[in-house]
Amino acid sequence: MALRNVKEYISKRMKEIVSAVGKKKALIATSGGVDSVTCAVLTHKAIGKNAIVLFIDDGLMRQNEGQKVKKDMAKSGIKVKIMNVQADFFKALKGLEDPEEKRKAFRDTFYKSLGKAVRMTGASFMIQGTIAADIKETRAGVKTQHNVLQQIGISPEKYGLRILEPLKDLYKFEVRMVARALGIQPEYSERMPFPGPGLATRVVGEVTPHRVATLRKATVIVEEEIKKARIKPFQGFAVLLKDKATGVKKGKRAFGEIIVVRSVDSKNAITAKVTRIPWKVLEKIQKRINLEIPDVIKVLFDITPKPPSTIEYI
Ligand code: XMP
Repeated sequence: MALRNVKEYISKRMKEIVSAVGKKKALIATSGGVDSVTCAVLTHKAIGKNAIVLFIDDGLMRQNEGQKVKKDMAKSGIKVKIMNVQADFFKALKGLEDPEEKRKAFRDTFYKSLGKAVRMTGASFMIQGTIAADIKETRAGVKTQHNVLQQIGISPEKYGLRILEPLKDLYKFEVRMVARALGIQPEYSERMPFPGPGLATRVVGEVTPHRVATLRKATVIVEEEIKKARIKPFQGFAVLLKDKATGVKKGKRAFGEIIVVRSVDSKNAITAKVTRIPWKVLEKIQKRINLEIPDVIKVLFDITPKPPSTIEYI
């Protein structure tokens, strides 16, 4: 455990940020996940209004996420700018099906967008919420996490960036301890992790606006029903498969999408067990998905722990 004393940890990281950035500006991209929100609040505490917080609207985030993050961060006096780069991401992902190709295309577009933002705002550093599990899994070759560059020999200078990663030696449960100590709203400090590449990690096969829209609707339903049932998994979410299935609707043959419901319990995201979601809750999720998303024919529940499976699908 890297975190022995939370207050000391925060003050050390703040001093590092101040000494690196000085009186200049720093850019922090937040997806609304606990890591990047913690990073944004920490940086804002360290350098005040010289911290420029950006929500990259890549078209792959949860429903209304940009506006929600903007409104919620404003409560802590942090102004969030929204940068719409949806077209760039869908263009980069067009035609790609291989998970690693998709991840690398996402990463490249992500850093290009940040390079652009840094040039526009005149920021001298980019501060990002990469954590220990991201680095470990990328280095081990399990999967290319969107926010790991320097640890695998890619220079951020390629994108015109200088990067600081104040949380890079922490695991998720430790990031939450830092978030609580910083007074971050429980809705964020306790929030289920959401991967940087967003819904792209949960679309098997090609990522298109239509397929993402279908998955986004299913995501809302899974999150709402888990919350209503007061179940608190490490992560509970929906996945859209590439295969389709035959069904019957109003007495006629239908051929449509397959949604998987996945829910896992974990401490550090390196291993995970399947959440024992009550059958009644699963049935409710199935009924709502089939009723509210006509494209979907079949709803499955994933019973695989990590390992051998990973948490996300790509
Ligand atoms: P996996 O799928 O590798 O996920 O078992 C472990 C944890 O990492 C999250 N995840 C990511 N987070 N960028 C991120 O910021 C990524 O590229 C990425 N890929 C997976 C995942 O949601 C889980 O919490």
